[in-house]
Amino acid sequence: MSDCALLPVIGGDLRVPLVMGGDARYTNLDYAASAPSLEVVAARVTEALSLYASVHRGAGYASRVSTGAYESARVVVGDFVGARPNDEVIFTRNTTDALNLLASIVPGETVVLDIEHHANLLPWVSRNEGSGNDGSGNDGSANDGSGNARVVTAADTIAETLELVRAELTRRPAALLSVTGASNVTGEILPLRELATIAHRFGTRLAVDGAQLVPHRRVNLLLEGIDYLAFSGHKIYAPFGAGVLVGRSDWLDAGAPYLLGGGAVTTVTVEKTEWRTGPARHEAGSPNVIGVVALARALEELSTLSETEWTTHEGGLRSRLLDGLQSIPGVLVHRIFDDSADSVGVVSFSVEGVDSGLLATYLSAEWGIGVRHGKFCAHPLLARLGVTGPALRASFGVGSTDADVDVLLRALVAFREVGPVASYEFVDANWTVVDDPREVPAWATAGEGAGSYGCAA
Ligand SMILES: Cc1ncc(COP(=O)(O)O)c(C=O)c1O
Repeated sequence: MSDCALLPVIGGDLRVPLVMGGDARYTNLDYAASAPSLEVVAARVTEALSLYASVHRGAGYASRVSTGAYESARVVVGDFVGARPNDEVIFTRNTTDALNLLASIVPGETVVLDIEHHANLLPWVSRNEGSGNDGSGNDGSANDGSGNARVVTAADTIAETLELVRAELTRRPAALLSVTGASNVTGEILPLRELATIAHRFGTRLAVDGAQLVPHRRVNLLLEGIDYLAFSGHKIYAPFGAGVLVGRSDWLDAGAPYLLGGGAVTTVTVEKTEWRTGPARHEAGSPNVIGVVALARALEELSTLSETEWTTHEGGLRSRLLDGLQSIPGVLVHRIFDDSADSVGVVSFSVEGVDSGLLATYLSAEWGIGVRHGKFCAHPLLARLGVTGPALRASFGVGSTDADVDVLLRALVAFREVGPVASYEFVDANWTVVDDPREVPAWATAGEGAGSYGCAA
């Protein structure tokens, strides 16, 4: 039973309008896209705002506090993920930014799987364009340090996939193997320790896209042999615009600075620039101190949870959802691997004969439920799963309860048995309610009708 939230979140009692009139408690089943703020995070942000000033740039008291808070956050992040003493903690905007930074400094080829979120695919494979390497690894090009990528097509089991990775690295070692920690489509977790062992045998480093794993599981770089880890504050209950790349300092210190500007340099003349090493090398410009303070506070709070209570809570919700979905005729739950033993609170599914976009719009309009629909920025994965149109994704976390899962299941059953009450139309590639009476605050009207883009396509 997960009848209470594990930690209180902002918006846990939000009420939203329904198209038939009246309102309903907002059922937030979209944590994997962006999780709500923990209450303690919002409180810390309010506290930090009263002391907010420039970071690394001022002698004023508030600047000293803000600088101290920013640098303390590095320690919190490093401790939370079990960083090694020489690892660097670099603050970025999000996981996408962190992986792009890593891609910009890798001194050689990278191997990735075809099941990745675009954030852990495009920074690598886009480097093949114009290089003559098509990513298949069949072009015979030597590992010449040009920074190209090779894509391994995952098999139907994790065990076979590990063998394919081993075979690819045997064929030609790479500088880096970059994999997702947990799939943003199915929630399935990859065996990181085993992947690290395989990679390290070939002198290859392991990078983990932790966007979906870190919000659900303890991750320890040292114990698991992970060389680089990227994750986002907004998925880990700190939606204030900060992300992280943690990992080995040598490549980071040797690589070209990611952003060029103030803070990244020791001396500058018009002819010559001396670049810093350490995190400052890649963090030019005024940093997002509030986002970083929020992220650190979220990690502090999550570290008060025991691993057992965390996994029991989310595991209970996942089983309840899967059991319920499997009892609804026509619902197909997606999974990548036949042998995956552990998954986080992310479940994608399709309903036979029903457009997922229509279903997501109905769930919101008639039940106040927020889920994600689309291809989840993982187009190659959706293609290999045989999903041609959009799918639906329900995801949850520490603020979720059994009641959230139950409302979704009731709404899906009602759709199948009774059908929608309101009228819907497909306009400009989006499902909308005909004559939708629901209003949004005046300060949020510009986004109306914009729908989703990019990843939903
Ligand atoms: C597995 C995975 N990697 C990377 C990302 C990108 O995260 P962000 O949008 O915070 O950069 C996401 C976002 O959904 C994700 O699920």
